[in-house]
Amino acid sequence: MAIDLLKADNTVHTGLWQAETDDTLLCVDVHDETHDVKSFTFISPDRKHIVFDAGQYFMFELGLDDEVDGRCYSISSSPHRRNAITITVKRVPGGRVSNWLHDNLKPNMLVKASGPLGRFARPMAQKYVFLSGGSGVTPVMSMVRELADAAQPVDVVFIHAGRTPKDFIFRSDLANLADRMKGLRLLLLPEEVSNERSWPGLYGRISKELVHLAVPDIAERIIMCCGPAPFMRAAKTIAGELGVPPQNYHEESFDAAVIEEAPGPIAEFVQAQIFNVQFSKQSKSVEVSADQTVLSCAKKAGVRIPSSCASGICGTCKSRLVSGSVDMKHDGGIRQREIDAGFFLPCCSKPLSDLVIER
Ligand code: FES
Repeated sequence: MAIDLLKADNTVHTGLWQAETDDTLLCVDVHDETHDVKSFTFISPDRKHIVFDAGQYFMFELGLDDEVDGRCYSISSSPHRRNAITITVKRVPGGRVSNWLHDNLKPNMLVKASGPLGRFARPMAQKYVFLSGGSGVTPVMSMVRELADAAQPVDVVFIHAGRTPKDFIFRSDLANLADRMKGLRLLLLPEEVSNERSWPGLYGRISKELVHLAVPDIAERIIMCCGPAPFMRAAKTIAGELGVPPQNYHEESFDAAVIEEAPGPIAEFVQAQIFNVQFSKQSKSVEVSADQTVLSCAKKAGVRIPSSCASGICGTCKSRLVSGSVDMKHDGGIRQREIDAGFFLPCCSKPLSDLVIER
């Protein structure tokens, strides 16, 4: 099949994946990374090339039990490989989407997906620290693979923390990369080593002392950090204590804890107006005040709305507004044509009237 790529004038031609309109991926490979992590590789069914930045993700929408459930998964492959993308997914106990992917997704199956999305971009620099906790390794793995493919001189310290040695995603891939990339120093840090007593290195939690020993010049480096919320909190504190300027510290997480911890108003001096919000498919309604997001109130009332970033970035919570109006402050998670078609993002929308939502 003929593929038109970017021509010399940088005009986009039909052989490139269009984030605005393309929404289907074909699975071509499933690979076991660890006992509870698999990588899934996809191509466009009509062989379009997918242009993305390391650090970006796709939002996958699966129809499970008559409901559409969406989850965001970071791309773990190199952006230099454009004919296919790979995502790496940890099986989360009780997680509907991750368990479905692990148990059911096979090569030659089609899935609905939109992207690439996200702004966890690596600024251009000579010296980096990549810090990852658990499955937070995926976007930084894409970055290190990109640097390896570019074959440019670069100085990277990669600290990858995991629960035990057997939980390290990409353990052998990272060892191979560290073997051939002269500027890559790798430190795998298991929290405990009971399942591999011959572990030759340090173990324990990330600490200021360890980071200072491993990266004495950390204050001169760009930090790219991804992992669960407690890991990122610790990493950010340590980076600050070791003199990393805030603008040099970049992080990303889809940890559900981030959603739970979204700060609410500290004090209320004015009684906000209350609106009635109905969820037509679940036959539920909730009271939402004008200064709260629709999603936060829906969750408290037990209404099921899939969500991920809780800040208008990923598009996971996209829902159809049947009637009423909202004040939506999104961050790229919805397209204008979707808004025109009556959709909105409950996670970043406050009601301006009573609402009926198709959920
Ligand atoms: S949860 Fe990500 S846009 Fe709403």
